[in-house]
Amino acid sequence: MLTQAATAATLCRMRPWPTKTLALGGDYNPEQWPRSVWDEDVELMRRAGIAFATVGVFSWSWLEPAEGDYEFEWLDTVLDLLHASGIAVDLATATATPPPWLSSAYPEILPVDHDGHTLWPGSRQTWCPTSERYRERALALTAQLAQRYHEHPALALWHVSNEYACHNVPCYCDRCGRHFRTWLQRRYGALDALNDAWGTAFWSQRYTAWDQVLAPRRSTTLANPTHVLDYRRFSSDALLDFYLAERAVLSEHSPDVPVTTNFMTLSHFRHLDYHAWAPVQDVVSTDHYIVGTLAHPRAELAYSGDLTRGLAGGGPWMLMEHSTSAVNWQPTNHAKWPGQTIRDALSHVARGADTIGWFQWRQSRAGSEKFHSAVVPHAGPDSARFREVEQLGRIAARLGELVGSRVESRVALLHDYQSVWAASGPSMPSGELDPLLAAGTIHRLLHDRGVTCDVVHPSADLTAYDLVVVPQLYLVTDEHAAAVAAAAEDGAQVLVTFFSGISDEHDHVRLGGYPGAFRELLGVRVEEFFPLGPAQEVALGAGTGTWWSEHVELAGAAVVESYAAGPLAGRPAITRREVGAGAAWYLSTLADDERLGRVLDDVLAAAGVAPAVPGLPRGVEATRRRSDEGSWLFLLNHTESPQTVAAAGYDLVADAFVGGTVRLDPGGAAVLREG
Ligand code: GAL
Repeated sequence: MLTQAATAATLCRMRPWPTKTLALGGDYNPEQWPRSVWDEDVELMRRAGIAFATVGVFSWSWLEPAEGDYEFEWLDTVLDLLHASGIAVDLATATATPPPWLSSAYPEILPVDHDGHTLWPGSRQTWCPTSERYRERALALTAQLAQRYHEHPALALWHVSNEYACHNVPCYCDRCGRHFRTWLQRRYGALDALNDAWGTAFWSQRYTAWDQVLAPRRSTTLANPTHVLDYRRFSSDALLDFYLAERAVLSEHSPDVPVTTNFMTLSHFRHLDYHAWAPVQDVVSTDHYIVGTLAHPRAELAYSGDLTRGLAGGGPWMLMEHSTSAVNWQPTNHAKWPGQTIRDALSHVARGADTIGWFQWRQSRAGSEKFHSAVVPHAGPDSARFREVEQLGRIAARLGELVGSRVESRVALLHDYQSVWAASGPSMPSGELDPLLAAGTIHRLLHDRGVTCDVVHPSADLTAYDLVVVPQLYLVTDEHAAAVAAAAEDGAQVLVTFFSGISDEHDHVRLGGYPGAFRELLGVRVEEFFPLGPAQEVALGAGTGTWWSEHVELAGAAVVESYAAGPLAGRPAITRREVGAGAAWYLSTLADDERLGRVLDDVLAAAGVAPAVPGLPRGVEATRRRSDEGSWLFLLNHTESPQTVAAAGYDLVADAFVGGTVRLDPGGAAVLREG
């Protein structure tokens, strides 16, 4: 695997991506259309200011209609056309979905579900991560593409597969079971070590030979949690290995072209440990779609952006896909409001994206995504939606000056996929508690206050942060727990929530009172959990707590708030302890927004962290990007009324100076070059 330093060194020799403009673009699937449409496509792309096109994501059956028979002429024409219009190509390896001939000839490539049933062709991503045959055919196609297009002047980026793990992980086939055993042998060496790590003394699960260890298919009742956790780790690693194999082929035949694969940092997608994947991307890219069924969809978008930036080491990243309007996979697929196509794109730029892509360029007339919006809708370019993209194209041209700048943040919020996996069970104190609930809530309340967080892995360097939030970090290593404590010693405010520091990397509970890893830092000792159901709440001195409560004993901390009713009445609910030059705060319940908001205000004041602009109206998002050349203030009005914010500068959206007060239209946005 490449180290971060090796990747950076390789990058120096690479063709540049992102380019020095705020690049707009997206998935372009010309094989869905007759040749006569392609000329209109590039003409419209020019009109809309499109700078890049992702080509070939689901084109395998068009590139290799029979085993070893390659047909590239149509792709040659597409790349030539795009190049002639100055549009850079993000060329896919086309390996996300096998063509029907491949699964017919080699049915062993098909994935198997939790119940042991084969998942059949007819949709997409119908392949098993450990299939040697699938890998062989995928690498053969990748090599063909890399050899043929390496010298093509349109080629700017390689796009490996697509959204790895979307639909086909975990696979529970026997072959994955075998690969899992090899992975376990590497991890544990001896079977005794595995027995210890998995706690197989419980329920007579002791293994006496490696071939007794299986993929954790559906059993009679609760599965062994460490077995399940290790399978999730293995499944992420198996696909990472696949990615690295494709990447190696690209490096061999197309050495100086950057490589990416599009992540899905949406908070409901949790199949891959992107912290292991990010160091082997030359450009970190992600897809994001607004999920209308969430209580706070805009806050989720912001979280995803901050997480992606964390994965990109704080630098710029690429939004590979989002939608101009409705998607087609939610219960009701809401169209975006007028202006929202622009505002949503700018929301990602506000959080560090330097490239903005959509799925897809032209709305399909057939197939599973024919009702998914696109840049060119069914109605054609004579439409409000297309005109809005054209308007964004003009704004993006002006925003080119901020490309490469970094988002300002003095707050770190810790996110660890492995902890999320472990906290997802099976057999947790509450099966209804989302492992990202506290993270999402605290992030949202900070975002409402105009305070930006870097969402980072616990191994990140925490020394530059004034506030470190540790939300439901259920599984934590000694090393990461020590780094959190050191941050407090060095002067940071550290805010830890319930259900953090409970278990070690094998998901063994840390004994002596919860939260074992943070007990000393926080000066509390939790004797027992009192989880609350979704409709339950517990009274606090002021406000209420939801989802969770605990029997907290003080061991050096001072009480900030107490439980006021129920079995915990009179006991501490929120505490604070002075630590070195900083302090450690503990939330044993999820207080309501108002009560929690007041705690956050106190924590922010103690940390000396101010919002991006003072007096931010409710529903207006504010972030700042900065570089040696200057700073840019993003203001996004997510409300249906006009809003005013005290700020000054040159508004790159309106293309006009603003002195003193910015007036934002309902759903409007401003990006001010300050100073
Ligand atoms: C993404 C995928 C695209 C398209 C899009 C629809 O997950 O990469 O191919 O399906 O979703 O929202």
